[in-house]
Amino acid sequence: MNIKKIGIIGAGTMGGGIAQVAAQSGYEVVLEDVSEEYVRIGFAKIKERLEKRVVEGKIERIEKDRIISNIKTTASLEGCKDADLIIEAVVEKEDIKKQIFKELDAICPKESIFTTNTSSISITGLAQVTERYEQFAGMHFMNPAYVMKLVEVVRGLRTSDETISMIMTVAEKMKKIPVVVNDSPGFVSNRVLMPMINDSIYCLHEGVASRENIDSIMKLGANHPMGPLELADLVGLDICLDVLEVLYADLEEKYRPCPLLRKMVAGGKLGRKSGEGFYEYRK
Ligand code: 3HC
Repeated sequence: MNIKKIGIIGAGTMGGGIAQVAAQSGYEVVLEDVSEEYVRIGFAKIKERLEKRVVEGKIERIEKDRIISNIKTTASLEGCKDADLIIEAVVEKEDIKKQIFKELDAICPKESIFTTNTSSISITGLAQVTERYEQFAGMHFMNPAYVMKLVEVVRGLRTSDETISMIMTVAEKMKKIPVVVNDSPGFVSNRVLMPMINDSIYCLHEGVASRENIDSIMKLGANHPMGPLELADLVGLDICLDVLEVLYADLEEKYRPCPLLRKMVAGGKLGRKSGEGFYEYRK
């Protein structure tokens, strides 16, 4: 199948970033979210980022207009029913994702491929709510999706080789580097990354060092582009907690989320998106 049209479910940070990347690569994109308001906000952020690129002289205005014209928006899953490829990027809640895939399975053509940008939830389990488990896989983009090179392609228990190959082709057309892994909690990326973030929160919680010193140590000592606490704020503390809960439930004690992380999420300190996390951000 020649993939031309991509339906992206969820217009938040990840969905919006993926939509931009797909549209830049010449795909027809339908960006969906549950309300007109959410889709409008998500689309406005894409336009804002592209306008900044024009002002900085990184792209021509005509190029910005071309990218924007590749994106249509909708507040209904019906709007994505003729997509060749679905990339789901909604909140990290298994029941919500399952409900979406169930609905899409009923309205999309048999041959279209379903993927999820989940950070940790079982691909095999999500695929089971559909009749197309061979055409179902993980397509895990990193944040910010328009900058980071990796797409972690996750093979579920029954994903076909053909599906993996088609997804790799799409990721490459998006100028990303796809790397295939098998389905397992947190895959490779978050199974390795999240314990580091969690341990850095424990260091802060136990008074081992200040937030700035924890971040400086990893930037200066391990050459990370940003410190783990800054990174947690970028990813979203709620997402970090959701991923750690899956790892903790399915793997071992060492993934137990730090009480400080739980407290911050409960108190609405979610990182950049809420204006405050380990650091403060101007809205
Ligand atoms: N569209 C396209 N390209 C853009 C862009 C946009 N809107 N905005 C920036 N870029 C390009 C820039 O032009 C630049 O490219 P160039 O070097 O060719 O000019 C490049 O992207 C980097 O942009 P910036 O200069 O703005 O970025 P910084 O150098 O300040 O780095 C950062 C910012 C990329 C966020 C860097 O700090 C970093 O890599 N941090 C770590 C991020 C990370 O680890 N992400 C993974 C998180 S885990 C995850 O997502 C998994 C999930 O499941 C939880």
